[in-house]
Amino acid sequence: MREYRIAVIPGDGIGKPVIAEGLKVLQRAAAVQGGFQLKPRHFDWGCEYYLAHGRMMPADALEQLAGFDAIYLGAVGYPSVPDHISLGGLLLPIRRGFDQYVNLRPIQLLPGVQSPLRTAEPIDFVCVRENTEGEYAGIGGRFCAGTEHEVVTQTALFSRRGTERVIRYAFELARQRPRRKLTSATKSNALQYSMVFWDEVFAEVAADYPDVETEKWHVDALAARFVTCPQTFEVVVASNLFGDILTDLGGALQGSLGLPASANINPTRQYPAMFEPVHGSAPDIDGKGIANPIAAIWAGAMMLDVLGETQAARLVMDGVRATTAAGRTLTPDLGGGAKTVEVGDEICRQISL
Ligand code: NAI
Ligand code: MG
Repeated sequence: MREYRIAVIPGDGIGKPVIAEGLKVLQRAAAVQGGFQLKPRHFDWGCEYYLAHGRMMPADALEQLAGFDAIYLGAVGYPSVPDHISLGGLLLPIRRGFDQYVNLRPIQLLPGVQSPLRTAEPIDFVCVRENTEGEYAGIGGRFCAGTEHEVVTQTALFSRRGTERVIRYAFELARQRPRRKLTSATKSNALQYSMVFWDEVFAEVAADYPDVETEKWHVDALAARFVTCPQTFEVVVASNLFGDILTDLGGALQGSLGLPASANINPTRQYPAMFEPVHGSAPDIDGKGIANPIAAIWAGAMMLDVLGETQAARLVMDGVRATTAAGRTLTPDLGGGAKTVEVGDEICRQISL
């Protein structure tokens, strides 16, 4: 029996109920599939922990997490705690400390779900966002603050190692996908150092993958293509900032913030990867029992996939698709009247061999 130790951080607000449904569905998939077991352990870190202890998680949090096979996170954020504290005290230290340099975001329109786009064609691609450097390297400063001479700089950092490894990951992923196609987001017409370098590295790595079709678009044109022809993409690779913007746009194409999921991965497997819904703690609907659990469940399917339980991951996503396609048990964000728990139960019912 294969065993996986999962560190569960439900966090705040709707993070708690959606992660509970996620675990329920994953345990159901494990029972139906057989051959492996999930061993979850809960951590009560987040904004309530912060209000009690003055920090989002204990000082030795990363040491505590390092021994797990994966981290399953809900959402963090509380109206009474500034967002830079909740983000900077939990999510970012985990992503950086575990060098999770790939942020993986499937952009897929589930059956029965209305996209804001008028398209009859399927939308099904994956974004690979660089997650550790680039425009978010945090280099810069403010000089002569508040005077008429004020100057502000914010410098992007692209290392050869950091650029190459994320592009290589994207090529490996493209190789496993039906169309073997990789799209690069660039802006080398205007960013003559960073993005010219990005394009060079992309071309160098591409030489190792002659079986993968490549294309590159300036990020502004690429954003437009997300809207006009999303069906042409298979895998998209982008720097930290470009990926951040493109994935939110991609998430919007999916029809509800209650659906998109993401993974933060260090492909060397030196550290555990972290899986999370894209949405936040949604204080406006917290406590009403109507949060859509599908984003969290989808993140759980990605976790099974990365752990190597691809069959069970497929079972989960088949259950999700059967549920949205039937359309009987959906939360209000998808136009239904079901509760969070009812959607989780329905997906469990749909999971069978
Ligand atoms: P949000 O994602 O929490 O909510 C945005 C809107 O989408 C709200 O109207 C909410 O009701 C709706 N929504 C989100 N998830 C939903 C779900 N599963 N089912 C149905 N409706 C859903 O973003 P917002 O309001 O900007 O931020 C709220 C808090 O969450 C803030 O403290 C923010 O910092 C934090 N946050 C945390 C994230 C994380 O932990 N990864 C990501 C985004 C925000
Ligand atoms: Mg974002």
